Amino acid sequence: MKVDILLGLQWGDEGKGKVVDVLTPRYDVIARFQGGPNAGHTLEFEGKKYVLRSIPSGIFQNGRTNIIGNGVVLDPVLFREEAEALEASGIDLRKLLKISRKAHLIMPTHRLLDAAGEKAKGNSKIGTTGKGIGPTYTDKISRNGLRLGDSELPDFKERFEGARNRHLSMLASLGHETDMEALEAAEKKWLDAIDYIKTYDIIDSEHEINALLKEGKSVLCEGAQGTLLDVDFGSYPYVTSSNTVSAGACTGLGVAPSKIGEVYGIFKAYCTRVGSGPFPTELFDETGKKIRDLGHEYGAVTGRERRCGWIDLVALRYAIMIDGVTQLIMMKSDVLDSFDEIKACTAYKINGEITTRFPYTLEGVEIEPVYTTLPGWKTDMTGMKNESEFPREFTDYIKFLEEELETPITIVSIGPDREQTIVRGK
Ligand code: GDP
Ligand code: IMO
Ligand code: MG
Repeated sequence: MKVDILLGLQWGDEGKGKVVDVLTPRYDVIARFQGGPNAGHTLEFEGKKYVLRSIPSGIFQNGRTNIIGNGVVLDPVLFREEAEALEASGIDLRKLLKISRKAHLIMPTHRLLDAAGEKAKGNSKIGTTGKGIGPTYTDKISRNGLRLGDSELPDFKERFEGARNRHLSMLASLGHETDMEALEAAEKKWLDAIDYIKTYDIIDSEHEINALLKEGKSVLCEGAQGTLLDVDFGSYPYVTSSNTVSAGACTGLGVAPSKIGEVYGIFKAYCTRVGSGPFPTELFDETGKKIRDLGHEYGAVTGRERRCGWIDLVALRYAIMIDGVTQLIMMKSDVLDSFDEIKACTAYKINGEITTRFPYTLEGVEIEPVYTTLPGWKTDMTGMKNESEFPREFTDYIKFLEEELETPITIVSIGPDREQTIVRGK
């Protein structure tokens, strides 16, 4: 059996949670492979809304196995909050969820380091989610990290204290004055949460996933963040600290490249970004505000306003190339239902020269988007059930995108609810 991957092609928040939930009935296993509680994946069905951060979006349908892979960074306290809320709403999470021993742990001092690092950067801060993601991955790569499996070792407490003391001296060198009383309280809560996590099924996920594949089970990997936030290929340094691209599923779960099947690339009919960093098609006018209002573009994790702009096909083609996308999924097209005209950026003008190649850096260069303007469809599509109901202008918009992106759009989302999803060619 092959492993399929679903991942964001923009700067995150494309609607991954919603579509993973919709696709879950087609799979036996849903797995997260990177990121952590910087993610906020929203699902809506039967009048209820859930936001998931570390737990895969496959927990709501038909008792599928959900795995948190080795590439994920886990905050035990936030995990506990998320898990307890789900249990309170009647979900038997312990039956559904398995967690990799190799997942790295986010400590309270990682969060302090995240905040202190941002403060030290001043105007060039990244605008992180403040969840300690960067410092935790830094410890992982510098071979100083703590893993969930370490909590099963007799010297876990000493390892934890060693890491904490190292972090405290780093904080001091950044000029951060640590409130030791508050830290001790946070650490107590953290250690209690470790005991809580240990009541879950902690596994060697690379062995388990490969055994499941051998048995003929199908796996869907759920990406977090988006391709333009990838630490290697995104708008560095305004990125997250993990590989969000499809290759990240191999390292984040222990599945070989030869096992990868379909790659679903998901994008909004426009574009958004939270935090700092370049965004060539950003709109600062009334149109940008209209997209934000109609699309409710506020962060699921931080509540921050999302920056909004037109769709960027230069960046999308680049993401499709890096990820090896085989099928596209277009989200939030309903947000553009009332627009007279829709613009799509087909090329960049950089220093007077037109290019369709995503450049080395988007920073410090004057990038002027080259737009194609298309007529709006001016139709409320939110109640539609089949693509045969689509207005002609919308069908033309899809055709235009498929030609520009050289990849088929197989699913179109026309609202936040599970039901508001149209699978094409059915
Ligand atoms: P994720 O991080 O990729 O899972 O996306 P988020 O949950 O952070 O952000 C997507 C937001 O758009 C959520 O509030 C969803 O409920 C909402 N959403 C998803 N698909 C659609 C859609 O097709 N139309 C509209 N209007 N909202 C959508
Ligand atoms: P989902 O999975 C949107 C952004 C932050 C910041 C940068 C680095 O919901 O799509 P970090 O805390 O990771 O060090 O922040 O990355 N960012 C996201 N933006 N959606 C996300 O996740 C994000 N996760 C991180 O805003 O600019
Ligand atoms: Mg999100």
